[in-house]
Parts: sequence; structure tokens; C-alpha cells
Amino acid sequence: MIVVAAGRGSRFGGAKQYADLAGRRVLDWSVDGARSVADGVVLVVPPGRGEEPEPAVEAVVEGGDTRSASVRAGLAAVPKYAEVVLVHDAARPLASHALFRAVADAVIAGTDAAVPVVAVVDTICDERGTVVDREGLRAVQTPQGFRANALRSVHAPGPEATDDATLVAANGGRLRLVLGDRWNLKVTEPADLVVAAAFLLEQG
Ligand code: CTP
Ligand code: MG
Repeated sequence: MIVVAAGRGSRFGGAKQYADLAGRRVLDWSVDGARSVADGVVLVVPPGRGEEPEPAVEAVVEGGDTRSASVRAGLAAVPKYAEVVLVHDAARPLASHALFRAVADAVIAGTDAAVPVVAVVDTICDERGTVVDREGLRAVQTPQGFRANALRSVHAPGPEATDDATLVAANGGRLRLVLGDRWNLKVTEPADLVVAAAFLLEQG
């Protein structure tokens, strides 16, 4: 399992993965979810923070300038014998154990990539204001799961993409969609942290 936490948080106004969420760091919640299904967790941290102790994970590596570069840094630290690799954004601290399990199981059942998706609730339009039919649209979340070989081979040439499953599918890999969770929000701006904290409080 790779948890990518090497972003700058420019829309948040700082390194959101280290911000406090209900008494722990955002990334601690994400690592907890990851641990609940994985044999091991590789945490990818911002450049310069690789020496900070992270006792909850098996390996800490420093990421790169882009998310794809950070995924590659993490992948290099995943043991060669791993057959299934999940990639999760540290910025999604509310991903449930059930969701991690469903994604891992979809890969184990036989596909190259499995991604959680949810229906789009907002009305969506393009930049000219023309409304796009949202019926056929889905928002893509993490954790995403991969047959390790498929993920390694698409990353070998060093591509840039915000989404690894898209890369696998674009290279002819089999993609399976799993039902995501509307509450698996991505902390992007400070207000998202308020919502996440309220959700955790409600859950007890
Ligand atoms: N990420 C990463 N390395 C990067 C960029 C992003 O590991 N160079 C990680 C982030 O830490 C986050 C996830 O990828 O967990 C999703 O990225 P995003 O939500 O865009 O986070 P940031 O890139 O940090 O935020 P922003 O785009 O606002 O700067
Ligand atoms: Mg980003």
C-alpha cells in the first residue's frame, strides 16, 4: 500500500496532510485505513521530511514535484513480491475499511485496476456554460488498487497524470469500477477539514 502525502497543499494554504483532524494528523487517519487491509504501508512525504519518525508505517520515502513522481517514489519502496498494490491519497482521511477492502478484493478477483467512483451530485457545465449530462459522469476517488505489474509498467516511462487508473486503462489494462463513498471526501480547502471533523464526531 502506498499513501501519497508529499503534496504542497497550495489550495489549502499549507501542508494539509499534517493539519489536525480530531486530535490526529490528517495523514494518520489515512494510514489507519490503509493498514486495515495492507501487509505493509509505504508513506510518501514531502522532500526534506523523510527523516521524521513515522512509527505506524513500514517505509518512509520522499516524494517528487508531482503526484505521479510521488507514486513512483513510493512504488520503488514496495517489495518486489507484492502482487497487489493500493495507492491512497493522504488527503482522503475518511476512506472506510470497507472501501479499502472492496478495492483490494476487486483486484484480487482479477483486474488490472480497480477504482472507487461516485455519481456526480452537482449540475456540471463546460467553460462556456453548456450543461453536460451528469448521468454518465462519475467522480473518481482513492484508494485505487492495481495488479503490481500493471502499475509498475505504466509508471516505467515516467508519465504525468493525476490518476493512476486512467494511466492503466489508457495502456490497455482492465479497469473495474467499485462503488465509492460520498463521504470519502478529499481535503482540498480548510472548510473540508471542518466537514471531516463533523463526520468523525458523528461517527463517535
Ligand atoms: N501528492 C503527492 N505529491 C505531490 C502532489 C500531491 O504525494 N507532488 C499527494 C497529496 O499529498 C495528496 C494527494 O497526492 O495526498 C492528492 O493531491 P492533492 O489533493 O492535489 O494535494 P496537494 O497537491 O497537496 O494540493 P494542491 O493541489 O492544492 O497543492
Ligand atoms: Mg495537487
